[in-house]
Amino acid sequence: MADLNELTEKLSNIRQEITEELKKIESSQGAFEYKKSIMDSKTGKIGSLMREMGKIPNELKAEYGKKVNEIKNWAAEEFEGFEKKLKEAELKKRYESEKIDVTMPAKMQKKGNLHPNTQVRNQLVDIFGSMGFNIYEGREIETDYYNFTALNIPKDHPARDMQDTFYLSPEFLLRTQTSSGQVHVMEENKPPIKIISPGKVFRSDDDATHSPMFSQMEGLVVDKGITLCDLKGMLDLFVQKIFGEGTSTRLRPSYFPFTEPSVEVDVSCFQCKGKGCKLCKGTGWIEVLGAGVVNKKVLEDCGIDSDVYSGIAFGIGIERIAMLKYGINNIKLLFESDLRVLDQIDD
Ligand code: DAH
Repeated sequence: MADLNELTEKLSNIRQEITEELKKIESSQGAFEYKKSIMDSKTGKIGSLMREMGKIPNELKAEYGKKVNEIKNWAAEEFEGFEKKLKEAELKKRYESEKIDVTMPAKMQKKGNLHPNTQVRNQLVDIFGSMGFNIYEGREIETDYYNFTALNIPKDHPARDMQDTFYLSPEFLLRTQTSSGQVHVMEENKPPIKIISPGKVFRSDDDATHSPMFSQMEGLVVDKGITLCDLKGMLDLFVQKIFGEGTSTRLRPSYFPFTEPSVEVDVSCFQCKGKGCKLCKGTGWIEVLGAGVVNKKVLEDCGIDSDVYSGIAFGIGIERIAMLKYGINNIKLLFESDLRVLDQIDD
């Protein structure tokens, strides 16, 4: 290429071609690809111009270089402006398509809630936790010793009939009461002891108010000078918190082999306030739990000196509390996972 005129014409053709081509390009990606092809140093129409330098006579080289640089700068500016314009348009389009109407009503997400049993258990744990009780996690598979013998219920004791037991072997069974945890706690810890132990228990029993698997929460306090008054005080506070202020307790004599004396604890009817209604069967009182002063023999068998220490214990049926509190008349409703029932209970 000896003639600068020829070059000028060539460059002007390239300019025209680029100008025409850009009119056809609709996306920033397309513009980018095109720019690459034009500016490519080996094959691009502009990019490769410098390679021609060798063929240019020395006296024209400076002028040639200037012209090539000119078109390079022009193309770079042209592409930049063009790409920017397309990018802006594309962004605007995207914003339009993703536009959110913040005034639209929100999509409501269905909120799950805890199972009534879990709600009651958490409430019990909170209430007794605030009185300084620690949680002890007992075991569901127990030995005959921990579930019965150590609780002063030796073999052939009639009290064993009170709890129809699922035996796994002559030695092992599914615990029938969380009371079995008491023995482990007293064996493993020295007084003062102040624990609650919620968990599942099992009995071969099945009707509207009984289920083969249900939950209890055991309470145990062992220290110097603990009396039935301490039990009454704690339980009064407990029923006020769980059933509402103004609720009180009444202790009735009862029998459990591991407590002496033993009591059945009634709560004043929180529905009719003691006047007598269907819930309390007209008596104004509802039985809620069993309790008592820990039998000295149980303390001694666990290595605790019963002349120095005394204890109180109680066992609460969690389903029973849930049924009373939420007006559920069949325990099965608590095990059937029917959301029409469970959805109603969110305390
Ligand atoms: N374990 C008894 C039951 O399942 C309930 C019970 C009664 C627990 C008296 C106690 C207690 O800790 O002192 O029927």
